[in-house]
Amino acid sequence: MAPLISAAEVAKHNNKGDCWVILNGDVYDLTNFLPEHPAGANIILKYAGKDGSKAFNPIHPSDIIQKLLPAKVRVGKVDPATLKAEAAEKPSEEELQRQKAESSKPPLSQMLNMWDFEAVAKQVLKKEAWAYYSSGADDEITLRENHAAFGRIWLKPRILIDVAKIDMSTTILGQKSSIPLYISATALGRLGHPDGECNLTRAAHTHDIIQMIPTLASCTFDEIRGAARNGQHQFFQLYVNKDRKITEAVVRKAEAAGCKGLFITVDAPQLGRREKDMRMKFDDDSAIQKETGDRVDRNQGAARAISSFIDPALKWDDIKWFKSITKMPIVLKGVQCAEDAVLAYQYGCQGVVLSNHGGRQLDWSRSGIEILPEVMAALDAVGARDKLEVYVDGGVRRATDIFKAVALGAKAVGIGRPLLYAMSSYGQAGVERALDLLKDEMEMTMRLMGTPTIKDITRSHVITDNLNKHISVVEDFSMNSVYDRLSTSANPKL
Ligand SMILES: Cc1cc2nc3c(=O)[nH]c(=O)nc-3n(C[C@H](O)[C@H](O)[C@H](O)COP(=O)(O)O)c2cc1C
Repeated sequence: MAPLISAAEVAKHNNKGDCWVILNGDVYDLTNFLPEHPAGANIILKYAGKDGSKAFNPIHPSDIIQKLLPAKVRVGKVDPATLKAEAAEKPSEEELQRQKAESSKPPLSQMLNMWDFEAVAKQVLKKEAWAYYSSGADDEITLRENHAAFGRIWLKPRILIDVAKIDMSTTILGQKSSIPLYISATALGRLGHPDGECNLTRAAHTHDIIQMIPTLASCTFDEIRGAARNGQHQFFQLYVNKDRKITEAVVRKAEAAGCKGLFITVDAPQLGRREKDMRMKFDDDSAIQKETGDRVDRNQGAARAISSFIDPALKWDDIKWFKSITKMPIVLKGVQCAEDAVLAYQYGCQGVVLSNHGGRQLDWSRSGIEILPEVMAALDAVGARDKLEVYVDGGVRRATDIFKAVALGAKAVGIGRPLLYAMSSYGQAGVERALDLLKDEMEMTMRLMGTPTIKDITRSHVITDNLNKHISVVEDFSMNSVYDRLSTSANPKL
């Protein structure tokens, strides 16, 4: 039986040399862990002697302490009778506005496209969550380019083809999918909704599509796998840990749990500067900063706070090792040129995702859709077109985008933010509606293009002359109205 500890007792352990924190009813002695916390000591010290659950829960899987820290850090349980009801903090003007937007948001039935969800999410998400989800690297050039690049491909519809029946189903790594689309891995789902990534799992089941489970999910892997139904297939996204024993255990666990593909993220040896997120500074308590002299996390947002374990020394030779520890097909997520796609094939991978991480890593890197034609040509040259599956993610907002990617040789596209926004605004029902809308659009696109099945969609259906010239003629109004910059007196918030 864990000892019952009064809140007053916990409150005595409130400093750098003696730091207890209450998390979901349990009391932990985190003193020795302070220097090791990936997000720095300050954020823990902010809750020293207090209950930190509210800050902890949205960004940590519930099993993280048991997994990473020795059992002895748990000192006992807090006696609930001694906990004072938290004095209600006066909500800020911004928070009041958010709450108003939440209670007056349009009914789900009024959402007609992915931009609608984004517009609602911008209003209803807490500012930290909006900053984390929406941010791109540096000046967000690549973030915008990801969608703008689709605007440089035009369609060439064909007529008088029997399109009474449309079949958009396909396979991804041999697994059935009702549309050439999968849910890409996005970290910290619970920042947007209390059920986090499990919303995506359930909606993926409703729609018969595949979800990629993120390493940095805020639900536990078991919760997400547990939310899957009736043999529902999932992929696993891996951030490679510097400690290869941990990496191996994670990979083996994903395989044993039935994941059907291992997507190794290869575009993040260092996290990009996502300044909107960094400005939020998850830890903004300068008094604590002074006390500890800890400057490491002074300017970190959620992204940098959670990713310090990722191995920057990962290299091509490691693929051999991955192949020795798993039978799951291996896909490299974050390939950005033809040469690397060919290398992926030569190293025995089964797929590549042409991706720049949703514009969150290297600004001025090209969009996946722009790279696709050169990748397919290079794979043709080595006779590997049918031996390596190629996916594209980044900026997919319309089914015409999916169509364009398939026409240029992609097996499927990955979608990130739109589904996070749908989830944050309306939960599982929002994600289901977003996928409904994409399917409606896809059906119409395929019918109007004269392509009743996925295999009917070919290179000849798209015009790409302008794709790599980087001149976007059509103004990208939707993105411009949704993404915001630093708010200053000269540039007030929109
Ligand atoms: C909030 C957020 C978190 C993400 N987290 C991860 C991650 O943990 N691992 C990863 O490989 N990619 C991550 N990505 C990148 C996505 O998997 C995907 O490449 C990208 O979102 C696609 O672009 P889109 O958002 O325009 O659809 C993240 C993207 C976003 C927006």
